[in-house]
Amino acid sequence: MSEKINLSIILGSVRIGRFGEWPAKMIKEVAEKMEGFEVSFIDLKEENLPNFESAVSPAYITNKDYGNEKINSFADKIRGSDAFVMISPEYNHGYSSAIKNAIDSIYVEWNNKPVGFLSYGSAGGARAVEQLREVAVELQMAPIRNGVHIMSPWNLTDEKGQLKSGALDEYEKPMQNMLEQLSWWAKALKNARNS
Ligand SMILES: Cc1cc2nc3c(=O)[nH]c(=O)nc-3n(C[C@H](O)[C@H](O)[C@H](O)COP(=O)(O)O)c2cc1C
Repeated sequence: MSEKINLSIILGSVRIGRFGEWPAKMIKEVAEKMEGFEVSFIDLKEENLPNFESAVSPAYITNKDYGNEKINSFADKIRGSDAFVMISPEYNHGYSSAIKNAIDSIYVEWNNKPVGFLSYGSAGGARAVEQLREVAVELQMAPIRNGVHIMSPWNLTDEKGQLKSGALDEYEKPMQNMLEQLSWWAKALKNARNS
């Protein structure tokens, strides 16, 4: 199959002055330079989804109507994606509530698609990502093995919150490795979904 993989990069920090914008911008550029991806960027701050409050579990909603314009628009973007990179900070050893809210708000659109994780923190955000992997399985997703874990992000920006020159350079190769693995899974699962 020669078609491009529709890759959505989901930024899961909505905090004022968030660090997450820097690795998000970088992995988007890395993916755009690689063959085979059509890259979209989904910023959960812009999506501004309502707090999950559906009376019916989204797992039972198959008519593309979640009863809310913002959720429907978000669902359209996820439906049109073949693969995801989820970018999460680690808050109190967990992933961001914005990501959990986005995950829970829809269901079938996530199914049978691969996801790779990029995180950051004192342990590279690994504790948050391990939790996300378990949740992804319940969404019938394929969480991939390779990830990007950025250590001590607070050392990588200056006093104005700007990324220090070259601070993320060492993560370019891990980003490529994760995207290559994601591409393999995306092609396999896209074929399987279409057959
Ligand atoms: C509420 C809160 C809880 C945090 N808890 C953790 C933590 O458990 N582990 C960790 O490594 N960093 C923790 N941090 C530090 C974050 O890694 C750091 O602030 C990072 O920049 C957050 O990502 P963001 O700027 O994209 O929101 C915490 C930060 C906040 C604001």
